[in-house]
Amino acid sequence: KWPEKVVVREVGPRDGLQNEKKFIATADKIDWINLLSETGLTHIEITSFVNPKWIPPLSDAFEVAQGIKRVPGVIYSALVPNRKGLERALEADLDEIAVFMSASETHNRKNINKDIASTFPVLREVVEEALRAGKRVLGYVSTVFGCPYEGTVPVEQVMRVVDELLSMGIHELSLGDTIGVANPRQVQEVLSVILHRFPAEHLTMHFHDTRGTALANVLASLDMGITRFDGALGGLGGCPYAPGASGNLATDDLLYMLDGMGIQTGIDAAKLLEAAAFIQEKLGKPLPSHNLQARGNL
Ligand code: HMG
Ligand code: MG
Repeated sequence: KWPEKVVVREVGPRDGLQNEKKFIATADKIDWINLLSETGLTHIEITSFVNPKWIPPLSDAFEVAQGIKRVPGVIYSALVPNRKGLERALEADLDEIAVFMSASETHNRKNINKDIASTFPVLREVVEEALRAGKRVLGYVSTVFGCPYEGTVPVEQVMRVVDELLSMGIHELSLGDTIGVANPRQVQEVLSVILHRFPAEHLTMHFHDTRGTALANVLASLDMGITRFDGALGGLGGCPYAPGASGNLATDDLLYMLDGMGIQTGIDAAKLLEAAAFIQEKLGKPLPSHNLQARGNL
């Protein structure tokens, strides 16, 4: 009953590095993304065209986008909050534009400095222009399973944002458990509502592993027919505007489980680990994924 194949989107260069205090040199970011491009990954979120004053670790977004080798068949994506970000992303010729907002008011305001209602027209303009430019568009919804400021987020509130994003014509929807509070029952409850509006093939789950529930949530999603997952290599990541948010689901932990279950991803585990070793060395600290911690014992 599980899918034969799933798509893994690597968001480490964006969601991972945005939360690191250490500035990774532009050349090292480029080398890392080039290594990731050789692993068999088909989707890589490489950076973010947000205000660099808000996210200094990714202030070299344009240089990174220009500097990487584009491997045919790989979709290179970047986060875009508004028109100004879109202009830079289009100039850098990304394949995919990822817009984002939250299901909860307070996180939306802390993260992008606007309330939900006034975010809609900003994103609509970005999505329409990106579509006109022939780009793929992904829409993230954050705090789907809980907000660091408001706690539980009612599913009706999630649906208000989901419906608005869908009406803009996005190709793919990514549901974010921004602070890693979701559990499998909740995942299935939310998915059973959303799957009435949007087909599973275009839905991505974006789990953070803050409380160790990310892989359980992946399994619950696989049970519901979901075939797309975001991960950050080594378990890097977190949103600086969500107190307590920590690492994304580690791509290497996800791959370990999917490989073991016989679910294909097209990713070469040995090459992925080389890419993990590279960024671990540049960051100068051990990365938190279970897989990397266990390696000495394999
Ligand atoms: P603002 O301050 O309200 O923007 O920020 P503004 O339109 O009032 O402009 C103020 C200044 O920012 C101006 O500069 C603009 O030019 C500049 P000044 O005239 O003062 O010198 N500016 C920009 N500069 C570069 N690129 C831009 C840009 N836009 C404005 N695109 C804004 C609004 C959204 C830009 C700001 O709040 C921001 O950058 N926020 C980003 C926050 C962020 O990146 N958070 C993390 C990513 S979201 C996440 O991690 C969740 C996710 O992983 C899913 C999940 O886990 O749930 C996706
Ligand atoms: Mg995230």
